Amino acid sequence: MPRILLITGCSELLTLRGPVPRRGRALAGLGILRDGAVLVRDGAIAAVGPRRQLARLSEARRARRLDLGGRVVLPGFVDSHTHLIFPASRADEYEKRLAGATYEQIARAGGGIHATVRKLRAATPQALKRKALAALKTFAAHGTTTIEAKSGYGLDAASELKTLRLLRELRQEQPLDIVPTFLGAHVVPAEYRRRPEAYVDLLARRLVPAVAREGLAEFCDVFCDRGAFSVAQARRILTAGRACGLLPRLHAEQMAHTGATRLAVELHAASADHLEKITRSDIRALAGSDVVATLLPGCCFHLGLERYAPARELIAAGAIVALATDFNPGTCPTPNLQMVLSLACTQMRMTPDEAIAAATLNAAYSLGRHSRIGSIEVGKYADLAVFDVADHREIPYYFGVNHCWLTLKRGEVIYSRERL
Ligand code: NIG
Ligand code: FE
Repeated sequence: MPRILLITGCSELLTLRGPVPRRGRALAGLGILRDGAVLVRDGAIAAVGPRRQLARLSEARRARRLDLGGRVVLPGFVDSHTHLIFPASRADEYEKRLAGATYEQIARAGGGIHATVRKLRAATPQALKRKALAALKTFAAHGTTTIEAKSGYGLDAASELKTLRLLRELRQEQPLDIVPTFLGAHVVPAEYRRRPEAYVDLLARRLVPAVAREGLAEFCDVFCDRGAFSVAQARRILTAGRACGLLPRLHAEQMAHTGATRLAVELHAASADHLEKITRSDIRALAGSDVVATLLPGCCFHLGLERYAPARELIAAGAIVALATDFNPGTCPTPNLQMVLSLACTQMRMTPDEAIAAATLNAAYSLGRHSRIGSIEVGKYADLAVFDVADHREIPYYFGVNHCWLTLKRGEVIYSRERL
């Protein structure tokens, strides 16, 4: 017998029906249904429409019912850039930065990513798993139903594989979908400081093929920036990844303009992320490509930087804009995409509607998952996030609080604020 669920009581149902990806004005098209309903069959969306229309379906009459009491329903958030697995906070560095040290100064002195690497190498898989499971629960509690997750705090064969195998275990043991990315090229590890090319060699010849052989990642990412990897090194690593079936993503133009965005376009990368320091010609290049411009305003906020990515120019030019948290201990320790929407609106002047589409449908596109997630349409997974607000714009407007009231993953409740 199929499991059938009829969801009603949606004051606003943001379907996001229509074309994928969204560019330009189309980014703001949320396809809102008032007093909408969703019929879910075996975890997938079987029908979406006005409540009265759905109530007439014969399946609806036999269905289990869930009345949301007049709340706002979105497709579950898709967080397309996270560093899920890390051993501890870097609150000590936070305090140093507030006193005037910069992120890059701390990194050059052996802190930053290196500090997290030392701790991750020493951590047991069990301890890492406990932290990751707690974080995943928090993601779900804030309305996120799919995340991308990068390795990159191991930086040697054993610790990178430990991280990616842990992601595989987590995929099987909890409800969120986790899309794994190999970020062995996060920074050059301390033991290779005097011979960075040898580390690039190790990545391109040994680690990337080993990760692909074990089926541990879908994407390969490089932090291509000042103090990390050059464009030439990134090209080599990402080309090796592509040859093994790992699609490229890039950390691009965060600290300095390096040409990483042009590399992303040249390699047909899935996504170029950060982009605070991009130029007009980069914007044009992105607009003429299918590379998703993934903006991470939580990083600028947490680092106290004034220059956010030029979201308005990217949207006006026709680039595919997505939003993500970048959940990590160094530059953005929040898993809360609602807060990222607030920052996107107040700091980058995106509209609430644009920000919502960027954190759902366009993010799903950047992960190659847009046929199953990112909108509320027939055939997609019933991944839904319900917010206790009267109007969807209140999600970013009332910032700094969690509005999520219920989260469904493939039709199953994975978070509920109240007893149903
Ligand atoms: O996306 N920029 C590189 N990676 C992360 C920061 C990681 C860290 O500081 O631990 C980022 O901002
Ligand atoms: Fe990142």
